[in-house]
Amino acid sequence: MRHKHSDYMHWSKTKSRARFNLATSGVAPFPFCELPIDLKELELNGDDSYGYAPLQQAIAAHHGVDPDCVVESAGTSMANHLAMAAIIEPGDEVLIERPAYGPILETAQYLQANVKRFRRIEENGWAIDPEEVRRCITPKTRLIVITNLHNPTSVLTPESVLREVGDIARSIGAFVLVDEVYLDAVYENTPRTSFHLGPEFVVTSSLTKIYGVSGLRCGWILAQQDLAWKMRRLNDLYSATPVHPGELLSVAAFKHLDLLRERARPIVEADRKLLRDFLKQQSSLCAVSTEWGTTSFPRLRDGNADAFLEQLRSDFETSAVPGRFFEMSDHFRVGMGVNTEMFAKGLNRISRALG
Ligand SMILES: Cc1ncc(COP(=O)(O)O)c(C=O)c1O
Repeated sequence: MRHKHSDYMHWSKTKSRARFNLATSGVAPFPFCELPIDLKELELNGDDSYGYAPLQQAIAAHHGVDPDCVVESAGTSMANHLAMAAIIEPGDEVLIERPAYGPILETAQYLQANVKRFRRIEENGWAIDPEEVRRCITPKTRLIVITNLHNPTSVLTPESVLREVGDIARSIGAFVLVDEVYLDAVYENTPRTSFHLGPEFVVTSSLTKIYGVSGLRCGWILAQQDLAWKMRRLNDLYSATPVHPGELLSVAAFKHLDLLRERARPIVEADRKLLRDFLKQQSSLCAVSTEWGTTSFPRLRDGNADAFLEQLRSDFETSAVPGRFFEMSDHFRVGMGVNTEMFAKGLNRISRALG
């Protein structure tokens, strides 16, 4: 039987909400009424058979790439699916980081890839070790998949390491898929997309996490032109054509990206400071702290996080994401950037639940 669901997505849609919701991964929604757009410019239908040119151009300009290398998609979710579906054949080896964002793994399984893993180790600050990647590839490896920033830990992989991974992939004729949906949460000296590092790089992203406009489902893939075209043709079998009002609103969002990003930034930064102070005081928790990102992945020193999170929800109305969704049952993921008052109260409740 092919794998046809995501346990994490199901949990996220049905169980993650709570009064003090620390189970988030993106910033607070940007209020529509604050987006400086003229609604008279909205239209229902448009010329977007294989992408709406103004949106392709906006995405291309954002990354400094050729618009022909841009493939529109419904969020990073569909971007990851399309990218993997265009690259891999059943039985191909796909090497995915561990811990990994569940739907990436599950999509590869759904596509009947032979999924292999390479470890990112907590003691090593969850960094990608190119030697570990080298040990795990085989001549059958078709694709290496990473997230940057890493979900769940928010660790940033520097360009030098990405280049090494690119060299490894090139040596066996494989691609590197980098999900960069969190990368723009690096607010200072934001790294350029890894797409610039070589033709073996395929990048996915969206406006979902860092810009507060998740509802637009504005996602994309960056790939070399021939592969990008293959993905557009393949998308004829999935969503066929995009939602045009969504494309128009996405173009408007791109015109005001700084406004969107800066609105969330002080909240993310205030939450990170609270989290740092909190972790310093909690002897039963430890976490790799990062300078950037909207998530953190603490470990409960003495136990399974599931029971703890159950109690946190039932007795303290607070939610966080169980580490089992990242195959790390001693951990849990907390999200920053939504509402600092709620975040502070959530942390306070975690502290009380820890006793
Ligand atoms: C690493 C990663 N990729 C993709 C997604 C999905 O993004 P989107 O909402 O743009 O589909 C998420 C959402 O949590 C994510 O964490």
